[in-house]
Amino acid sequence: MGSLDFGVATELALVEARIRESIVTEEPLLHDIARYVIESGGKRIRPMVTLLAFRALGGTEVRQAVDLAAAFELIHSATLIHDDINDGGDMRRGRLAAYKKFGLQNALVTGDFLFVKAFGIGGRFDDDIVEITANVCAALAEGEIRQKRHAHDTGVTRSEYLDIIQRKTALPMSAGARVAGLLANARLEHIEAVGDYGINLGMAFQIVDDVLDVVGDASRLGKPPGTDVREGNVTLVTIHALNDGSAIDVRALERLVRKHRKQDVDVRRVLSLLRDSGAVEKARLDAQAYGQLAKKALDPIADSDAKASMIRLVDYVLSRDT
Ligand code: IPE
Ligand code: IPE
Ligand code: MG
Ligand code: MG
Repeated sequence: MGSLDFGVATELALVEARIRESIVTEEPLLHDIARYVIESGGKRIRPMVTLLAFRALGGTEVRQAVDLAAAFELIHSATLIHDDINDGGDMRRGRLAAYKKFGLQNALVTGDFLFVKAFGIGGRFDDDIVEITANVCAALAEGEIRQKRHAHDTGVTRSEYLDIIQRKTALPMSAGARVAGLLANARLEHIEAVGDYGINLGMAFQIVDDVLDVVGDASRLGKPPGTDVREGNVTLVTIHALNDGSAIDVRALERLVRKHRKQDVDVRRVLSLLRDSGAVEKARLDAQAYGQLAKKALDPIADSDAKASMIRLVDYVLSRDT
C-alpha cells in the first residue's frame, strides 16, 4: 500500500513478490480469488512488524524475515476471508468481500488455501517458530469462536472482551515479532520485548478497529462500519456505553444489542447511542494506554531507525482511520 513508509519499503516489495509466487496454482479460479484478496491492498501492518522487529534486533538474513513476513500476511488474509463470512461483512479492502463476489464455498476454500500456503513457507523454519505460529492460529480460532458465543450478550465483561481480542488479533501480531527475534538470534529478553510490543500494539489496533466500526467512514475503511453492531459483537465501545452511559438511554441500548436480526434502523440507532454515550472517547483512551505499553516494551532494545519506526507505527495505529 505504498503510502505507509516506515523505512522497510524494499523488504515489503520482496514480501509482495513472495506472496504472489506462493499463490500460484493450476486452478485459475483459485488463483483469481487469491489474487483478488491479496492484490486489493491492505495496510501490511503485520509484515511491517516482523520486518521492523527483525531489523531492530540486528537480524541479517533478510530473505528469511521476508519469508516469515509473507507467511504471516497470508495467514492474515486467510482469516479476513473467513472473518467476512462469519461477520457477514460485505466489503473488504474497498472491494466486495470474496464470498460475495465468488460465492461462499469458493471463498472458504481459498481461505484454507492461503493458510496452507502460509504453512508451506513457515513450516521450513525451526520447530520453535512453527510452534509459535501454529499456536497463534489456534488462538485466533478460539477468539473467533468465543466472540460468537458472546454475541448479543450485554453481560460481556471488559476482561472477556480483552481475552477475545488478545487471541484473535494481539497474539498473532506478537508472534510475528517474536519469530523475527528468533530469526535474528536475539537474546531472550529482547525477543520478549518485541513480543510485548506486538501484544500491546495488537490490543491497541483492535480497540481502534472496534472504535472505527462506530465512527469510521466506509470509503476510508474499505469495509462497512456498523458490522459489529449488526452482528451483535459486543466490543469495548459497547461495554463502556452499557456500564456508564449516563448520557444515553442504556435500557434502549441493551434491548437493541440483544436483538437478533437487526434492521438498518436498529443499527443506526445503536450507532447513534454509542456515539452519544462518551464510550468512543473512553475506548480511545484504552487504546492509547496499550499504545504507551507497546512503546515502553521497547525500552530494553538499543535505539535504531527500526526501533524509531516501531514507535511511529504505534502512533499510526492509534490515529488511523483506514
Ligand atoms: C483487519 O486488519 C482485521 C483486524 C484485526 C481488525 P487490518 O485493518 O490490518 O486489515 P488490512 O490488512 O489492512 O486490510
Ligand atoms: C478481526 O476482527 C478479525 C480477525 C482477527 C480474524 P474484526 O471482525 O473486527 O475485523 P474486521 O473489522 O472485519 O476487519
Ligand atoms: Mg469482521
Ligand atoms: Mg472490525
